[in-house]
Amino acid sequence: MAPILSFSNPAVSLSNGISRRIFSFSTVATTSGIMSASSTSPTSKKAKTSSEPKPLIVAVIGYTGGVGTCLLSAMDKIGLKPHALVRSSTMTIDGVEVPVNFAELGNRLLEAAESQGGTPVIADVTASADVQNEYKNWLSRGISVATANKGIFAGEEAKYQELLDSVVPPAKLLHEATVGAGLPILGSILALKASSHTIVKVEGVLSGTLAYVLGAVAGGKMTLSEAVTNAKDLGYTEPDPRMDLNGMDVARKAVILARLSGLTGIELDKLDIESLVPKALEECSVDDFMSGLSAYDKDFAARVATVEESGSRLHYAAKVDVDKKLVSVGPMACEASHPFNSAGPDNLIAITTNFYTRPLVVQGAGAGGDVTATGVLVDILLCRER
Ligand SMILES: NC(=O)c1ccc[n+]([C@@H]2O[C@H](COP(=O)([O-])OP(=O)(O)OC[C@H]3O[C@@H](n4cnc5c(N)ncnc54)[C@H](OP(=O)(O)O)[C@@H]3O)[C@@H](O)[C@H]2O)c1
Repeated sequence: MAPILSFSNPAVSLSNGISRRIFSFSTVATTSGIMSASSTSPTSKKAKTSSEPKPLIVAVIGYTGGVGTCLLSAMDKIGLKPHALVRSSTMTIDGVEVPVNFAELGNRLLEAAESQGGTPVIADVTASADVQNEYKNWLSRGISVATANKGIFAGEEAKYQELLDSVVPPAKLLHEATVGAGLPILGSILALKASSHTIVKVEGVLSGTLAYVLGAVAGGKMTLSEAVTNAKDLGYTEPDPRMDLNGMDVARKAVILARLSGLTGIELDKLDIESLVPKALEECSVDDFMSGLSAYDKDFAARVATVEESGSRLHYAAKVDVDKKLVSVGPMACEASHPFNSAGPDNLIAITTNFYTRPLVVQGAGAGGDVTATGVLVDILLCRER
């Protein structure tokens, strides 16, 4: 069966959804509660006309986490009550707490959707592979999934394709928040493709941490080790800064961008990734890494200086060259006019198409609970569209 909701087809629904998205938001704002499962009575179902939006029947998995608590708060602001709440060990459906059972969660959402004439949606704001393993079951039963969980989207292509093939319309699989948190990046790429643009190139500064580090070493303001120490002290890095400096998180996002741009055969372990972690410091303790890094300061400063002498600046970025079918991740020399030079600590994505030869730029905070939650919430609202 040809999947209607493959990643080429959500392009259609998203591009069509742009005008409808405005309708969705105004509907939410003016009819607060209309989308809430608990606030939609059987009477309101009978009274509903075909032009009224269907209520959303939403389960939030990971509701106690950083993004999850922000998602509940954002949903509350627009009058969207969750039907089910799930965390590691328990789930609450209709106010009753039971052990987690994902098949049962699907059953209960479908029952509620059936009885209320609504659209069932599961929002995954965990980082759990176990939860992602359930996507196929839900999608094949017509339950939409809106997620911030990167795993499977950056994972093995065959598994990713299987997931796309499992979607039974009208269910949707949307994951805007997996790249750039709440920034409209994936939706923009899909909308451009659906409206006849040819994506030529997608470049992105996708790590606030690495943007901070390379910003700090620019012009010789700090050495590499000073910049990393500062970033760690300010809480901008993972407890082990190598998790940021190895570029793997950027690379996962690059895989997602490449796949949405239309490239196939892209696998994380085959990408050209330049890590900022010196080979000799890959396996040692965090303390030894931090104290050993200064030995590499001189070489890195020389590299920065060479780039700057030619009028460029070094940025840690992902580049998807669709024509050449190349995906690369690492420090890139960008000439003065390049949009990356105005990114500051933000995420910035530059999308070049046949029509946008000067790239379309999307810029803003690329991390944080609130913005990530709003990215997931936009996807939840898009699930209501047909
Ligand atoms: N924060 C950001 O800026 C950002 C940006 C983009 C994407 N994301 C992504 O958003 C996701 C959530 O991030 P976070 O920082 O909010 O994580 P977090 O604070 O660690 O919260 C994780 C949540 O997932 C729940 N959970 C974990 N395993 C589960 C399982 N097997 N079944 C059900 N629930 C489970 C946890 O429940 P318990 O409390 O019961 O363990 C908790 O509610 C991650 O995939 C992250 O990569 C985050």
